[in-house]
Amino acid sequence: MGHNDGEDNQPHRRWPRRSDSRACSAHAHPIGTAPQSPHNLIKIRAFEPNDAPRVCEIFYRSVHEVARSKYDGAQLDAWAPSIPDPSKWLPKLTEFETHLAVDESGEAVAWISMSAAGYIDMLFCLPEAGGRGVAGRLYDTVEQIAKERGCLRMTAHASLLAQPFLAKRGWRVEKHESHVRNGVSIPRAEMSKDLAA
Ligand SMILES: CC(C)(COP(=O)(O)OP(=O)(O)OC[C@H]1O[C@@H](n2cnc3c(N)ncnc32)[C@H](O)[C@@H]1OP(=O)(O)O)[C@@H](O)C(=O)NCCC(=O)NCCS
Repeated sequence: MGHNDGEDNQPHRRWPRRSDSRACSAHAHPIGTAPQSPHNLIKIRAFEPNDAPRVCEIFYRSVHEVARSKYDGAQLDAWAPSIPDPSKWLPKLTEFETHLAVDESGEAVAWISMSAAGYIDMLFCLPEAGGRGVAGRLYDTVEQIAKERGCLRMTAHASLLAQPFLAKRGWRVEKHESHVRNGVSIPRAEMSKDLAA
């Protein structure tokens, strides 16, 4: 999950068109707690094509400012050498179930994307929105969509930060591995969650 540059190497089916989806329009609601915090006004909404530049910026900042707690500088530079080109990411962002968390001014602060096969491809949060349940709400959104679509199993390649996050949500590690990107080894884990039960 997230250790790629938008070039898809996973087997995926295409989602039905968004107009067929019950899920994409029903997730704008306040976060609920922490009345002193602006994050209580954060809403979840579906990705739109003009969000692509902000999504790429969040990816870059999240890697360099959040994932730095678990990865060294060479690994961060290999993972995100620069802010990705939004035009290169746009096709997959559009094809996948991509959802954003937006603050009260409409600015996105975190996002998630999931393939039709239930593969969580990306989950990135800005540091200022971290540790407040924002990523959890994004995750809940796509898990609900996966269930509604009849997906039996969700999968991900999880970073060292995402592993405990997913484990708390019922995921198990299938295999610890290292992904070589730009010549640098980046530890991650294959994880999955059965939805059938
Ligand atoms: C992985 C990542 C998205 C997780 O984000 P996060 O900010 O820690 O996620 P959350 O805030 O939703 O969850 C963290 C904790 O905050 C807690 N929390 C604090 N305030 C909360 C509130 N008001 N409501 C709900 N939860 C709250 C939750 O209890 C949650 O703990 P839990 O996991 O035990 O439920 C984030 O670490 C990140 O962006 N990492 C860098 C990029 C990365 O590694 N991405 C994954 C690529 S594979």
